[in-house]
Amino acid sequence: MVTPDQNSAQADAWNPAQYERFRNERTQPFHDLVSLVEPLPGMRAIDLGCGTGELTRIMHDVLGCASTVGLDQSSAMLARTVGHASPDLTFVTGDIANLDPALGPFDLIFSNAALHWLRDHGDLLPRLVSRLAPGGQIAVQVPANADHASHVIAASIAREEPFRTELQGHVRIFGTMSPEWYAETLFKLGAKSTHVRLQVYGHALADTGSVVEWVRGSLLTDYQSRLSPDSFEAFLDRYHDRLIDTLGAHAPYYYAFKRILFCARF
Ligand SMILES: C[S@@+](CC[C@H](N)C(=O)[O-])C[C@H]1O[C@@H](n2cnc3c(N)ncnc32)[C@H](O)[C@@H]1O
Repeated sequence: MVTPDQNSAQADAWNPAQYERFRNERTQPFHDLVSLVEPLPGMRAIDLGCGTGELTRIMHDVLGCASTVGLDQSSAMLARTVGHASPDLTFVTGDIANLDPALGPFDLIFSNAALHWLRDHGDLLPRLVSRLAPGGQIAVQVPANADHASHVIAASIAREEPFRTELQGHVRIFGTMSPEWYAETLFKLGAKSTHVRLQVYGHALADTGSVVEWVRGSLLTDYQSRLSPDSFEAFLDRYHDRLIDTLGAHAPYYYAFKRILFCARF
């Protein structure tokens, strides 16, 4: 097992307003993921890492689920779920890495842009699949952009002083595996059908510097939660300058963002 510290995003690093700045761009992969699920009558669903619950509500309604639980560990995100809850759609605090044994079985385990925060998917996937009812489906979307300069630069700055000392050596590494790894693993776990794909979502941002605002809503939340406000500002300055040096100052800037989507039925 990996340590919770590396496995999860820090609980309240999330800033819903920052995350939603690129709402339209972040929403398309969600809709693509929902379209991979076969809607079946009476589905009991769980949305792992549900965030603000806005997309959980859409998933629940579009797929006509009988009941859905949205689970997240961020109180800042969960605070925004209030307007989306109903008797058949509830939200709970919880850690995906340590799901309450009382939860499940589910006909659908759904997760959009959350499981990459957990390491060791070789351990995680079998544990999730074990919570499926016979005939159940698992549908997951995870960013796969760790090799893009936007992510490589953040990791290298985290390894540089003075940040390395304040971060106590922590560097955020995501758990995302290769598309073929997910396909093989799902097959080995007994999936009756699988759909796995890598997709590039291209975003025409205003300029190269806008990448900072994008990444602030996700990857950089992890460093923000571990650094003092002054140190985080210094981190952002260095990150911005390094990004422009590496990618060039473009306006607009085309941010090519790779994501893996998979859906399997058991
Ligand atoms: C990028 S947001 C995605 C939110 C939502 N699924 C969406 O698509 O808008 C990732 C969410 O995963 C949650 N998360 C990350 N690691 C988690 C864990 N170990 N347990 C529960 N939630 C987690 C975060 O708190 C955050 O709300």
